[in-house]
Amino acid sequence: MVKILPSEITPEHVFLNRRQFMAASGALAGALALSACAPGLGGEPASEIGALQPAVAATLGPDKVPAALAYTEPTASSGQDELGDPLNTFQEITNYNNFYEFSTSKEAVASAAASFQSYPWQVAVTGLVNNPLTLDLDDLYARYTQQEHIFRLRCVEAWSMVIPWVGFPLAELLKEADPQSNAQYVQFVTVYRPEEMPGQRSSILEWPYQEGLRIDEAMNPLAILATGMYGKPLTNQQGAPVRLVVPWKYGFKSIKSVVSIVLTESLPATTWNTAAPHEYGFYANVNPAVDHPRWSQASERRIGENGRRPTLPFNGYAEEVAALYAGMDLTRSF
Ligand code: MTE
Repeated sequence: MVKILPSEITPEHVFLNRRQFMAASGALAGALALSACAPGLGGEPASEIGALQPAVAATLGPDKVPAALAYTEPTASSGQDELGDPLNTFQEITNYNNFYEFSTSKEAVASAAASFQSYPWQVAVTGLVNNPLTLDLDDLYARYTQQEHIFRLRCVEAWSMVIPWVGFPLAELLKEADPQSNAQYVQFVTVYRPEEMPGQRSSILEWPYQEGLRIDEAMNPLAILATGMYGKPLTNQQGAPVRLVVPWKYGFKSIKSVVSIVLTESLPATTWNTAAPHEYGFYANVNPAVDHPRWSQASERRIGENGRRPTLPFNGYAEEVAALYAGMDLTRSF
């Protein structure tokens, strides 16, 4: 079988966006050639992914959605990650979610988020930068090459999945914003829309949801901004239209539906650390040797599997990221 490199795949939502652009410039035929696709994976019936149609329709305008494309099967370049672990299915990834703005029940997030308006959208990059940016979704698609990144996601609650994200390294956006020399941290903020996000009308957490990274962590190539999954636009429950993914850290660092990225000199406040500092540290690196005060972190339940598997230091990405923490006591900076 011919191996298709992730870089050769044009995710459908990017393809659709380019198609819109090319159609506008009268070069539709050229754009169609960009639609290389790997065989479908996941095997979900069309009706279950039909909920994606609104996002695509919103992007293209309802009269321009090619129905066949909007309902194609989810695609990924491989059925497994670099450790040989199988991908979770589209169905699993989009029906077991943490997104407290919509619901505290993982199975209820998808329906509670169904009517969230994720288009149009803007992301602002501000603070200690020489070139502040305000980018809409089309800018993000056009300026940064969207590629597949198959990563494990390990939640602090000790469950995990393998997810074929589509997105681009956060470093590319930060470099364009040109950080000033005193910028040491990067803060991320989720959209605040209590009228659309029922959870934000309660005080279970401080809103809007916020996260943060040290700038060298943010520049690591494994830290990505995801716009899609399985070659489709992100679903609302996954944090549409753009979210952070930091695969070596517990899932709560991977903040959803981001509207603001601020470079700062001092350590930014983060939602879970503010809520329970003794349980959720700023670093939150996946670490089987440091237990949560209420449960062990030594093993995890892979969604879709029976039994438990051992948790790997840095979620299996130690080679790429351990040097970021040289000399630090990770039991204290947890
Ligand atoms: N981002 C926001 N804005 N709100 C949230 O409640 N939950 C976090 C993280 N990002 C959360 C969030 C947690 S605890 C996890 S484990 C992951 O999203 C889950 O991502 P998933 O639902 O795509 O698997």
